Amino acid sequence: MRVVCIGAGYVGSVTGTALAANHHHTTIIDVNQEKIERLSRGECPIYEPGMETLLPTLIGKSLFATTSYDAVADADVIFIAVGTPSNPDGSADLRYIKQTAEQIGKHLSGERFTVIAMKSTVPVGTCQWVTALLADASGLTPESDFTVVSNPEFLREGFALEDVFFPDRIVIGSVHPQGLSTMRRLYQGVLDRSGYEDLCQHFSFSYDLAAPPAVYFETDTKSAELIKYASNAFLAVKISYINEIARLCEALGGNVLDVAAGMGLDSRIGPKFLQVSSGGSGSCFPKDTAELLSASEKVDSELMVVKAAVASNERMHQYVVEKLERRLNGLKGKNIGILGLTFKPDTDDARRTQASYIIGKLLEEGAQVRVHDPQGMGMFRELNPDMPITYCTDPVQTGQDADAVVLLTHWSMYQEMDWQQMAGMMRQPYLLDTRNFLDASRMRTCGFDYQGLGVAAKASPSLGVMGK
Ligand code: NAI
Repeated sequence: MRVVCIGAGYVGSVTGTALAANHHHTTIIDVNQEKIERLSRGECPIYEPGMETLLPTLIGKSLFATTSYDAVADADVIFIAVGTPSNPDGSADLRYIKQTAEQIGKHLSGERFTVIAMKSTVPVGTCQWVTALLADASGLTPESDFTVVSNPEFLREGFALEDVFFPDRIVIGSVHPQGLSTMRRLYQGVLDRSGYEDLCQHFSFSYDLAAPPAVYFETDTKSAELIKYASNAFLAVKISYINEIARLCEALGGNVLDVAAGMGLDSRIGPKFLQVSSGGSGSCFPKDTAELLSASEKVDSELMVVKAAVASNERMHQYVVEKLERRLNGLKGKNIGILGLTFKPDTDDARRTQASYIIGKLLEEGAQVRVHDPQGMGMFRELNPDMPITYCTDPVQTGQDADAVVLLTHWSMYQEMDWQQMAGMMRQPYLLDTRNFLDASRMRTCGFDYQGLGVAAKASPSLGVMGK
């Protein structure tokens, strides 16, 4: 099929690449000339493991990148994957969606039936609104010349390729018969995994080919739009909940690692998203919970649980700052090293991360801050140009004369670095591991006063699983 993917960001570049790998003639369109030039050279404009190997094999063959909307005219399916950031009041800013719809409308030829698939996370009713924008700009008849379907994206940065090739679910929101059949045809290769043995060998995916295939789920458009927001808000609740339990463990004496492991053994709860952190963050959860709350307020249907989760999450960021403050007897004049600026490992995405909140607070309290991230320093600097912090290319250097080092993101490289050297460089070797990621006894041997989160100092040692 002929596919166009609009937006060459975290979703668009990976989605476009995967569609091309599934043998669809795919054109990625972006207004950003630099991203298009990079794609055209076979380079990924974002950091996403595996893309560096897959992209060069497809570009110029089944995958093309351009700033021109011309490919829209003869596309069977056009994905919209542009950003939907937050307005100051929390509602979704749909300006990029509007610009994209107007451009698509101007280029639709009406010579073939076209499905416009909304991958961007958009408020309920947006597909309907985009239908009207497309009709105005094209002069074509909706549901006869084209249809707009909702196809929310659930990929996780850092695992994006695995998630687009092996999704748990594909959600399609439409009641239009041709829209539904076109989307089924488009995703057939993902559902029956044709050619996947080669793909898995070539890109060393750690995926079990015998695992159940994606569930293909069709519903109406508004429900599909809501599934995405409701899912992200649910995960945000789960994160906030385990972080509250971590705070309780510290107060009462207990080990949140064991509490989470014990909870996760219940199949109704499951072990995922029960990992402690300094609070959830990133480019999706904060903006999606904000939009959901904003939408619910407009229709007077209060989401009390989501509201509480958002407040609790911010409390967790603040809790980390307070823990440091207590341990160091104040923050004024203290040197703090920060490891990790991205919201999770294996991405360069530093949008709306816990690091910006925590570093902002440390600076406000008069601390000096040195930071490291293997991929995220460029974006963090771009987003926070006025933050007076020192960027270190070597993680060990964040410990220079430091009173504390705080690990915020569990990049695997932090397991391997020279911790002993760092401890020797610090004014006080206090290490706060907000992900409970490092080996506590090894860190203590290296000379650190090591603390995790939610692991009370006198917690009893883990006995592990001894049987059912
Ligand atoms: P992004 O900001 O990385 O990429 C968006 C791209 O759209 C940019 O390259 C921008 O230049 C381009 N763009 C903006 N206006 C355009 C126009 N008129 N024509 C062509 N290109 C245009 O955004 P990201 O992270 O890929 O997110 C896209 C959407 O997908 C958002 O709604 C987001 O909530 C959703 N989403 C994001 C996920 C993620 O992990 N990043 C996961 C699932 C959904």
